[in-house]
Amino acid sequence: MPNSFLVPTKVVAGAGSIASVGKETGAFGSRALVVTGRTSARESGALDKCLTSLAAAGIEAAVFDGCDPEPPLAAVDAASETARRHRAEVVVAIGGGSAIDVAKAAAAVPPGESVVPYFRGGKPLRGPGLPLIAVPTTSGTGSEVTPNAVLSDPGTRTKASLRAGDWMFPKVAILDPELTLSCPRDVTVAAGLDALCQAIEALVSQGAGPFTDALALDAAAMIAHSLPRAVEKPSDLKARSDVHYGASMAGMAFASARLGAVHGIAHPLGARYGIPHGLACATLLPHVMRFNAENEEARSKYAVLAGRLSWAPPGALDAEASRMAVEGLLKLMHRLGFEPTLRQWNVSTSDFGAIADASLPSGSMKHNPRAMSREDVIAILESACL
Ligand SMILES: [Fe+2]
Repeated sequence: MPNSFLVPTKVVAGAGSIASVGKETGAFGSRALVVTGRTSARESGALDKCLTSLAAAGIEAAVFDGCDPEPPLAAVDAASETARRHRAEVVVAIGGGSAIDVAKAAAAVPPGESVVPYFRGGKPLRGPGLPLIAVPTTSGTGSEVTPNAVLSDPGTRTKASLRAGDWMFPKVAILDPELTLSCPRDVTVAAGLDALCQAIEALVSQGAGPFTDALALDAAAMIAHSLPRAVEKPSDLKARSDVHYGASMAGMAFASARLGAVHGIAHPLGARYGIPHGLACATLLPHVMRFNAENEEARSKYAVLAGRLSWAPPGALDAEASRMAVEGLLKLMHRLGFEPTLRQWNVSTSDFGAIADASLPSGSMKHNPRAMSREDVIAILESACL
């Protein structure tokens, strides 16, 4: 299929780059809504740094701090209402992927309206919405450089990506790896594994092309190489930087290439059992890779990744090297203290049919390199329980 590539988001990267949030935001207005999580950005001092920079640039800020992980639609409506009352001209998101996704959706929905009819698919969302400046404090979703907002709908027990057009890309992403130094171990692991899955899915996606391949391959290699160090020595700024920039590069890759079956299945699975997104993805990844390795192009790309990470020796045949890619990932997860099995969340095999039915229509599933049937999804879920 033809492929396209777009990264309209300006990236400002480097240790201490949070200090530029005022200047970058000021280019879009003088009244800002700042969207963040309930505690972490406040406790780490990241929110203070952000507000100080905004104040120094003469920007009046209102803070909405009601973002939880796996954010529900109600959080978007509450943030959007705060923006309306504050007469915000620009939205600044500082936090993990949830805060950025809530901010992105709140910036996109017309003032005074609820996100619900747009999310449930009946109503087309038209831009341009409010401009968004995204400052991630975790290294995972890549939401700072994508037009997607992943939201949960408790009313229908669904989790899906709201993506209405290229106008939903953030205007600026500020990538300050110092903001991730205080990220707790469990969040570093789960977010890092999500980013790694996203890089690998973008690499083999049907929408992949040479531009996304370059980003996805480098992203996967940087994250796989440096994530253990970032977990074992959290103050290591070089390791933190590799994982932080790698996560954004993976986001740039999948924003254009799209994802695959891991994400197609992980969304309904995670929504049903409350499994942290990155861990649901990591658990499915080895099984989906073994399935996809029957596809020649995907197998060859897994082999390139294994070679790049020295997980496979030079000259190894694709079939052998792609098996080594899976083995390398399993060893990496083990080193991170994560064992990829669905048993730990007490999933019930009687749900697998419903999860398969919910996963098949997703955009991610349609971009998987090898077509997957309902029976294939169920077989993957069963193998992930072992
Ligand atoms: Fe993800």
